[in-house]
Amino acid sequence: MRTNNKDLPLDQFIEFALYDKDKGYYMKKNPFGKEGDFITAPNITRLFSEIIAIWVVTFWKSIGSPKKFNLVELGAGNGEMMKVIAETLKNFPECFLNCNFQIHEKSEFLKKKQQINLESEKITWIENIEITNSFPTIFLANEFFDALPIKQFFRKKEGWVERFVDLKEEEKAEFKEQSTDIKIIEQKLNFEISKDQEIIEYSPGSFEYLNNICNLIKKNDGGILIIDYGYLNFKMRETLQAINNHKFSSILEDIGDSDITYNINFNLYKKFIDQFDDLNSIITNQKKFLTSMGIVQRAEIISENIPFSKKSDLFYRIRRLIDEKQMGELFKVMLIKKKTNKFKTGFEID
Ligand SMILES: C[S@@+](CC[C@H](N)C(=O)[O-])C[C@H]1O[C@@H](n2cnc3c(N)ncnc32)[C@H](O)[C@@H]1O
Repeated sequence: MRTNNKDLPLDQFIEFALYDKDKGYYMKKNPFGKEGDFITAPNITRLFSEIIAIWVVTFWKSIGSPKKFNLVELGAGNGEMMKVIAETLKNFPECFLNCNFQIHEKSEFLKKKQQINLESEKITWIENIEITNSFPTIFLANEFFDALPIKQFFRKKEGWVERFVDLKEEEKAEFKEQSTDIKIIEQKLNFEISKDQEIIEYSPGSFEYLNNICNLIKKNDGGILIIDYGYLNFKMRETLQAINNHKFSSILEDIGDSDITYNINFNLYKKFIDQFDDLNSIITNQKKFLTSMGIVQRAEIISENIPFSKKSDLFYRIRRLIDEKQMGELFKVMLIKKKTNKFKTGFEID
């Protein structure tokens, strides 16, 4: 059997549950919108993506309005965000004409959806993010990193243990633990992750992406805007969750039919980025980012000429994005850029 009768480390189990060619959650159906399990910000209102487009223009100016630049979306879902960004950038011809639009998407199923949705735009799909040209690159990642498989470790009296999953019989899948030498993990990561922690939750894939992206920014200039579920506390906690049909479910049930996500510890990301002397990161929450970028004013302008029912629907959607009890506080926005670039549009309100 596929597990070779061995227990799988949690990240390999999640890789199977989300991305197995036949069974994986993201490989066989459209998880977005009403009929799916969740609704992401670009699918709540197009204003979200319009604001991201305006942000891209201002950031592009901050790196000297380069004559050619790459705009790469990581994990584009149904392609909605890139579609609205491309449409909006047409209002800024100098930026639009210089922009090399690219999408990095793992799911063939979603890639097809994106190709249909983006039929009229000039987009290329890239297998890996090792950009070969020397133009600056602006990366966008909305709910990308929380979809990457994670590992979990727990501190016990006897030392650290890693979480595994016994998947010999899928219907009877259960969690297992194996003791582990955390120092080896830290050597691989090149930084101390366990100090003063009781739980460690991290995604090896995230650090690989961050490493490649940071090296590219260092070399060619640019930045990455990360928007994701997350928290800033130094202490890590267990945040792994499964969602099926808009409700929380068990990670080990309905394997391949539930989304599995976690909350990113942005403090850990900052620590990782601090290893790069030339780069820094700034962070805020989604409410502050969107409001300081003018999403409410934009909604007011648009709603001047629309019927009341549409206007209240629009403001209901905006509230969903910025309300602190909904997505406003839970979602964080992080920008990684060169230290010499003092840009902070969207990150000014504290
Ligand atoms: C939660 S969805 C978010 C989609 C979209 N950004 C949005 O906000 O609607 C995660 C996306 O990342 C893609 N993805 C996950 N792992 C990936 C990887 N290693 N490389 C490229 N795409 C990946 C998934 O297939 C999916 O399109």
